[in-house]
Amino acid sequence: MTKELEGFEKVCKYSKLIENEGQHFKVNDIDIALFKVDGNIYALNNICPHQKANIMHDGFLEDGCVICPAHGWGFNLKDGKMLEAGAKLDTYEVKVVDEYIYVKVYGKKFNWNL
Ligand code: FES
Repeated sequence: MTKELEGFEKVCKYSKLIENEGQHFKVNDIDIALFKVDGNIYALNNICPHQKANIMHDGFLEDGCVICPAHGWGFNLKDGKMLEAGAKLDTYEVKVVDEYIYVKVYGKKFNWNL
């Protein structure tokens, strides 16, 4: 593996993701949601901090945010911050190399500011 991809895991082909639709993957035991918006890839934790449901990949996309399909909590795709309160989804660094998406995951960072 090249130095530029150190710490990154190969997830899927770039073409596998559909524009404005989420998909979920397990990477090193972390449940992540990937989104493609305007050709950019965003990787967030797939577990909504509200009821700990792994459904963020099913959320709908609006103004650079993903909205949880269960009760509508919204999170910024870039930094995972919740729109109205202090909750946050972990976000992961993404690289696209030779048509494949690579993500750098890390263990859950607990956020008790709910
Ligand atoms: S489970 Fe996501 S908003 Fe309730």
